[in-house]
Amino acid sequence: MNILHIISSPRGEASNSIKLGNAIISKLQQQYPDAKVVVKDLTHNPFPHLEEVHLNAFFTPAENHTEEHKAAIRHSNEAIQQIVEADILVIGAPMYNFGISSVLKAWIDHIARAGVTFRYTANGPEGLLKNKKAYIAVATGGVYEGDLRSIDFVTPYLKHVLGFIGITDVVFNKAEGFAMSALQATALEKGISNIVL
Ligand SMILES: Cc1cc2nc3c(=O)[nH]c(=O)nc-3n(C[C@H](O)[C@H](O)[C@H](O)COP(=O)(O)O)c2cc1C
Repeated sequence: MNILHIISSPRGEASNSIKLGNAIISKLQQQYPDAKVVVKDLTHNPFPHLEEVHLNAFFTPAENHTEEHKAAIRHSNEAIQQIVEADILVIGAPMYNFGISSVLKAWIDHIARAGVTFRYTANGPEGLLKNKKAYIAVATGGVYEGDLRSIDFVTPYLKHVLGFIGITDVVFNKAEGFAMSALQATALEKGISNIVL
């Protein structure tokens, strides 16, 4: 059992999404004591915004790649390989401005590749990263329930984009209310005790 922990908060030991992700991994390790955990911290050497050279490399067949294409696509290939080797992904997702952090979005832009992680068929798009499970560790300042659910763009976006590349078994675990005085003291503890595997 290989677990890939994707970190996208720059707050290190203070990060709620990292703590929640680590708690999910501890629970998984109780189920799979031999599980190997690989940590990918996207805040260290973040993936760049997609530039023209990346797009050219993505859409040029590998046999025609120039040295410049090869250099531009290397990190994308490595990131996809890391996912291929994982059985379970644990993705830490702090909410920033109602969506995911830009480092997480940049990683997604480098792993969603036509012909590699998804393809278009006569029946529509097909995700190619099959037989994986993802746990999302979401940390938010507010609580997105009731009417406010519609302004949480973390949950629906990650569910959709992971499904698009084939990862359809996605479980969201949330720690909420870190910006709310009545909730912040217990938000992490509550999020951890509510973890669903
Ligand atoms: C730049 C920034 C933007 C944020 N935007 C939101 C937001 O739109 N909604 C919200 O509920 N919380 C927001 N927060 C609060 C974070 O989601 C909260 O602090 C969470 O714990 C961050 O995860 P982390 O502790 O793993 O870094 C924001 C925090 C920062 C630093």
